[in-house]
Amino acid sequence: MVESKFVITGGKPLRGRVRVGGAKNSVLKLMAASLLTPEECLIHNAPRIADVEIMCEVLQHLGAEVERSGESLRIRAGDFASREAPYHLVRRMRASIIVLGPLVARWGEARVAIPGGCNIGSRKIDMHLKGLAEMGAEITTEHGYVHACAPRLRGAHIVLDFPSVGATENLVMAAVGAEGTTRIENAAREPEIQDLIAFLLSMGADIEGAGTPVVEVTGPTPLHGTEHTAIGDRIEAGTLAVAAAVAGGEVAIEGADPGHLGMPLEKLRDAGVEIEVGGEGIRVRGGGAYRSVDLATLPYPGFPTDMQPQMMVLLSLAEGISVITENVFESRFMFVDELNRMGCDIAIEGHHAVVKGVGRLSGAEVSAPDLRAGAALVLAGLAAEGETHVLDIHHVDRGYERLEEKLTSLGADIRRETVD
Ligand code: EPZ
Repeated sequence: MVESKFVITGGKPLRGRVRVGGAKNSVLKLMAASLLTPEECLIHNAPRIADVEIMCEVLQHLGAEVERSGESLRIRAGDFASREAPYHLVRRMRASIIVLGPLVARWGEARVAIPGGCNIGSRKIDMHLKGLAEMGAEITTEHGYVHACAPRLRGAHIVLDFPSVGATENLVMAAVGAEGTTRIENAAREPEIQDLIAFLLSMGADIEGAGTPVVEVTGPTPLHGTEHTAIGDRIEAGTLAVAAAVAGGEVAIEGADPGHLGMPLEKLRDAGVEIEVGGEGIRVRGGGAYRSVDLATLPYPGFPTDMQPQMMVLLSLAEGISVITENVFESRFMFVDELNRMGCDIAIEGHHAVVKGVGRLSGAEVSAPDLRAGAALVLAGLAAEGETHVLDIHHVDRGYERLEEKLTSLGADIRRETVD
């Protein structure tokens, strides 16, 4: 794989209008949900990002027909060639585990490689497996694979220890194939889950409680094909809002529902960023002096963990000391050392990052350890004096489509270069 990097010259304010793509963390699940029916599913607003390409490979490996036409994916999971998601694919994208529930619901059996950990945490799947077992699946884990066997799934009363996004999604998709009603308590409420449930309802599923902590699924219901437009990517929108704040200028961000960004917009306003929400989306005016703000990441509608690294850059430019508490992942501060190499002054104390505001950042060569930290390093480069080289940007390409083009269109000085 040819490695590439972003070369950024900071100090340029951003101006103009930009549109975000479809939500990565919804589209990947809609693709998995398409496995539940032999009929054709059409998914619009599917971003051209690496994770979506890998999910296409996973579905094709299972035997589904997948083709992209423009911003849409056409998926037809007729007969399956395989009921196994192999390690060589799952290791490239942990979210592949999301095919487990649909495969068990459709075929009563699945074998999926256990996703490894990553730079932000161990990414366990114990809640996924416990819930499937409560629905009657026989779960064995050996040789690095989960094997779930359930000729007859039955409705169950499941209480999640934690409102896990992936566990909620896998269990809802399994439950549409279960006999009777499955009640999932302490379910996750993210907009992407609400989008998945809307997709399943359009296929003929019987689900109540989307977006609430209690979701009830009654099955089995034969599911038919559907056509659905994925919601906009709220994390991409939030990332671009912070870009406007740290680079200065004025940017209108379209394509995501501002209602999905309640907490991040509130925290940006608390820090002194001018935010207007209107018909065309979100208008951000940056460049002023910012105030320190404390924040704690929590499941939706709390502050999203996927916006934590980006906010750390903004708060590094604020007056005073901010405390960021990461409650969702156990090691999502890995990139702080890279930020400190750009002049930030951040100290980690367990789950807390103590961020001392510094007057300025200085450009440096840095490496992206994961998707959102990589995006945060790009934002730091926009604000820093001099040139920043962000290496290992394959992490960024997993979740941001043509990020450098979008920022360039707003006036940033950023280009992609191959690394010799
Ligand atoms: C989804 O991951 C997102 N990924 C993540 O976005 C996001 O950060 C996360 O939800 C939280 O919002 C996708 O949707 C593809 P979880 P997921 O299950 O489903 C622990 C990005 O940058 N846990 O809510 O894996 C787990 O270890 C990515 O786009 C268990 O212990 O998140 C983690 O600490 C990063 N046992 C916490 O819960 C389980 O069975 C939250 O995980 C499941 C999870």
